[in-house]
Amino acid sequence: MYAARKVFAGKASQGLAEATALHLGQPLGKADIMKFKNDNKFVQILESVRSCDVFVVQTSCPPVDENLMELLLMIDALKRASAGRITAVMPYYPYVRSDKKDQPRIPLSARLVADLVTTAGADRVITIELHAAQIGGFFSIPLDHLTTKSLFKEYLQSKHLTDPVVVATDAGGAKNALKFARSVGAPLAIMEKHRLGNTDKVEVTAFIGDVRGRQAIIYEDEISSGGTVAGAVEVLKAQGAAEVYVCATHGIFCGNAFETLAKCGVHEVITTDTVPHDPKSLPAFVTQLSVAPLLADAISRVHSGVSVSDLFSY
Ligand code: R5P
Repeated sequence: MYAARKVFAGKASQGLAEATALHLGQPLGKADIMKFKNDNKFVQILESVRSCDVFVVQTSCPPVDENLMELLLMIDALKRASAGRITAVMPYYPYVRSDKKDQPRIPLSARLVADLVTTAGADRVITIELHAAQIGGFFSIPLDHLTTKSLFKEYLQSKHLTDPVVVATDAGGAKNALKFARSVGAPLAIMEKHRLGNTDKVEVTAFIGDVRGRQAIIYEDEISSGGTVAGAVEVLKAQGAAEVYVCATHGIFCGNAFETLAKCGVHEVITTDTVPHDPKSLPAFVTQLSVAPLLADAISRVHSGVSVSDLFSY
């Protein structure tokens, strides 16, 4: 038994953590986070956490390394303050795409992040829609890998699409896209994309499926530069798709992503608030759903020792 359940937030996830805490019916824990003039971060937990079940929410977004360091410092501070259990809630996992050694002499950054979080003192991790589920295996502590599929499904139901088809943009994402297709009762189409080196440029090399006259729903874990989606929309339109929607959990939207997406003629991009953006700064074709209820549900279940598997991404 823990003394209490407490939720703290790093600066990158202040808004999301506040919304999550609201769903849980409790205030956010108080912490002071600031930077000294010498660029060193300072973190102080401003209330007792002794023997508490503590959840610390910090997502990955620019400045990525600083936000990661802040999470590590918060975990360390909580550990040294005698928290009973510490769960790192990482809505968008840092360095998630660096999960394999597919070029010579490169690091396994996503694995290193797992080691850092564990060494800092986290007892568990909650994260959402990893680029590859195997990243869970980088941890030797429990990791709850949540899915946004039901969030997207519910939203799409409100659109009453007459003839939808779900599209995976590469073979790596096909398994996950198939699960989504099954959950919304739509067929699946698959393309194979090839990224040109480490650039934003992608080339679609193959396409299997029938999208003619249908509403194509590209199912993605994330949008970064928008290059993958723009390339996919072009192919889908050439294949005769009536409209193209995108469901992508993590909307990073870096560089000229909004321009790239606007130009490609996508009908609507549906994303979530795992990566923070002021809703007013988003173009009209982008819809942002909140993962706060999902996180609140997961936190509540983990705290009470109730199964979380209904919320899982397998
Ligand atoms: C990569 O395999 C991911 O699933 C996404 O397709 C990728 O991260 C999107 O990146 P971008 O928007 O820069 O093409």
